[in-house]
Amino acid sequence: MKLAVVGGGSTYTPELIDGFARLRDELPVTEIALVDPDPTRLGLVAGMARRMLEHAGHPARVVATASVEEGVAGADAVLLQLRVGGQTARNVDETLPLECGCVGQETTGAGGLAKALRTVPVVLDIAEKIRRHAPNAWIVDFTNPVGIVTRALIEAGHRAIGLCNVAIGLQRRFAAGLGVAPERISLGHFGLNHLTWVRSVSLDGVDVLPKTLQEPLGEKIAEAIGLPISLMRHLGVVPSYYLRYYYEHDTVVSEQRSKPSRAAEVAAMEATLLELYANPSVNTKPELLEKRGGAFYSEAAVALIASLLGDRGDAQVVNLRNDGTLPFLPDEAVIEVPATITANGASAVPVAPVEPLYAGLIAHVTAYETLALDAALHGGLRRVSDALLAHPLVGQASLADDLAQRLVEANRAHLPWA
Ligand code: G6P
Ligand code: MN
Repeated sequence: MKLAVVGGGSTYTPELIDGFARLRDELPVTEIALVDPDPTRLGLVAGMARRMLEHAGHPARVVATASVEEGVAGADAVLLQLRVGGQTARNVDETLPLECGCVGQETTGAGGLAKALRTVPVVLDIAEKIRRHAPNAWIVDFTNPVGIVTRALIEAGHRAIGLCNVAIGLQRRFAAGLGVAPERISLGHFGLNHLTWVRSVSLDGVDVLPKTLQEPLGEKIAEAIGLPISLMRHLGVVPSYYLRYYYEHDTVVSEQRSKPSRAAEVAAMEATLLELYANPSVNTKPELLEKRGGAFYSEAAVALIASLLGDRGDAQVVNLRNDGTLPFLPDEAVIEVPATITANGASAVPVAPVEPLYAGLIAHVTAYETLALDAALHGGLRRVSDALLAHPLVGQASLADDLAQRLVEANRAHLPWA
């Protein structure tokens, strides 16, 4: 089995390799192609990947290349985990909106739109190469903003599924807190990528969420998410930590104004990680990687690919076409819900009617995502400011115009149309 990782020079790659090594019985990988345009990073990360596999006694061969065509050729699955413009562009996404009083975040709000504008054309170009050189491959998209990027891929006719680690992270947190194996826990998780809620936590088929929310474990989870336990108890749901950007928007803005951006923090971590990857005696995943947001990404990716290629038919939370699952959204919207994963792809498990408190925001952000994708595909300042006007965290005309102008200016080098 051959896997290709586009953005393979990412400092996250050892997280993936660690998963491939630990879960080798689930996924018998024989070749891993790391594709990246940056030769220095690619060399360091590929060296680290080879040492990790050797240390684990894993037989897979690691190929490093700058050529997408060469890397993906004959692959059974291709993982996309790239970041157009790197942490420098991310830093703009996180700081520029703040100057206008809006949350500075790489996937939520104006920053997420800038990221979509930079990313969609690049990902579509890569996907065309996959279509030519690995026509049967599944594309697993971890590239943010996952909802918009996955929708772009699906609308262009690619075999793509979007992946995020938020759901698996919460499942693992509940399992650890309850002292049970993660397989025994399944989440009633619904929404859009980075806009999700969990309204049931089923342990062997019994919903333990109401009870857990009253216990110290509920308090611990609320603390990790950064939202008050009183809110979760009142609503009876666990929002993802991305909901804090909505429910506590102004508080987050003032916090962000008084500390370095996440991009700056990550850039510093990446420098240290790359030093470790360059060290020939380091052959296991560094602890520092735990400080990145991608915990359990590898396990989610391994499980998804294993079920796609092995036709396992289990349920996993993924990003897929709505197709009526949430009846208040258009069919072509991309949603994040549990789905049955087989060799034919993902098919959503039915979702019980969504209460207005969540449905309103989901519909609002879906409309934004529709306009964001339109702007990413067709360009133009007008489309960018329309998308911002449609975003619940922007929504004012002069603010949308101002942000659109500034974001396009700052991202000019990455926008084919600007
Ligand atoms: C979580 C999200 C990812 C995001 C990452 C950022 O894993 O699900 O979509 O890319 O956090 O982590 P970072 O360490 O780069 O801030
Ligand atoms: Mn994510």
